[in-house]
Amino acid sequence: MSSLFSPFTLRNLNLPNRIVVSPMCQYVADNGKATPWHVVHLGNLALSGASMVFIEATAVEPSGRITPGDLGLYNDETEAALRPVLEAVHTVSKAAVVMQLAHAGRKASSHVPWETGQLIPFGEGGWETYAPSAVPQKEGERAPKALDSAGLARVRDAFVATAHRAARLGVDGVEIHAAHGYLLHEFLSPISNHRTDEYGGSLENRMRFPLEVFDAVRAAFPADKPVGVRVSASDWMEGGWDIAQTLIFVKELQKRGVDWIDASSGGISPLQKIAVGPGYQVPFAEAIRKETGVTTISVGLITEPRQAEDIIATGKADFIALARAILYDPRWPWHAAALLGAAVDAPPSYWRALPREHGDLFRNASFGGR
Ligand SMILES: Cc1cc2nc3c(=O)[nH]c(=O)nc-3n(C[C@H](O)[C@H](O)[C@H](O)COP(=O)(O)O)c2cc1C
Repeated sequence: MSSLFSPFTLRNLNLPNRIVVSPMCQYVADNGKATPWHVVHLGNLALSGASMVFIEATAVEPSGRITPGDLGLYNDETEAALRPVLEAVHTVSKAAVVMQLAHAGRKASSHVPWETGQLIPFGEGGWETYAPSAVPQKEGERAPKALDSAGLARVRDAFVATAHRAARLGVDGVEIHAAHGYLLHEFLSPISNHRTDEYGGSLENRMRFPLEVFDAVRAAFPADKPVGVRVSASDWMEGGWDIAQTLIFVKELQKRGVDWIDASSGGISPLQKIAVGPGYQVPFAEAIRKETGVTTISVGLITEPRQAEDIIATGKADFIALARAILYDPRWPWHAAALLGAAVDAPPSYWRALPREHGDLFRNASFGGR
């Protein structure tokens, strides 16, 4: 029996396997609005056999977009543009669709990666950015505006409004993005948070705003649907956020009913020193799961089916998330199932594709009409 292909339940979601499509920004939204790209891209990944497909970082307000091409869900137009995407994906696939709720903080107002990724100046389409403190991400960059109490309330309310819109769209779960140097991570990390009020200084104070956002989103999203959090478990910098602080943060989230922790790392500063290698972030998920018992997702250079199977079978994580590997091979879960003697859900139209030697590859699932 494969552990990777064993079921798992998250609130009302009964998931047939432990494979997650990691959130991946596409940078091709039209002023925050989803386009036909999103139907095709997410539709493709929803037919991969993964049990959950995460929608890319979705901005809760326009100034929280990393780039002008980021997806947003902050007004009626962006909600209307996402509706056909959700309808299409839910019609053709049983995969759960999870939306990552995001605010880019001081890393907003940037060019898309293939056009340098650098901050866009005012006057060239750039916009005001917001952060815990008026400290830029990189030396020499324009500083963000430190959020005052009205600004904090505005951002918290924006997360709530987006959670309501996501629920209306039939999104199956949400993940709050508190990683990769974006706004909520900026509150957690002493590298970016230099505040002297109740939102800065001590660990308790630095956790305050992200926990307020979690509480507000959890209260706004339907109780039978899960809410997870993505963290950067380490800044990979002296004096930065680290796994010890992460464990305390996770315990606070656990008290508040978090459904999973998606354990990533890095992103707070270009001065980080990351030791990248196969499964390099697995020890973070493992430590979180062992120390707290919270459901974990491990991500980062997980590329091989047997590597993924081992992570789940040895209890290092409950799920594995794939980003680059599943872009490269959108049938990765099919191939993993064939190798591990398991089965995937696939639409009947594809059943003739199975290789003869894996006659039992496809679960006898009925598709459509969820
Ligand atoms: C094209 C691309 C876009 C990404 N966008 C996001 C995003 O929207 N939110 C996020 O938390 N991580 C994002 N990531 C990071 C991935 O979710 C993942 O954590 C990272 O790529 C490591 O996993 P991998 O080795 O399987 O690619 C992105 C990665 C890629 C390659």
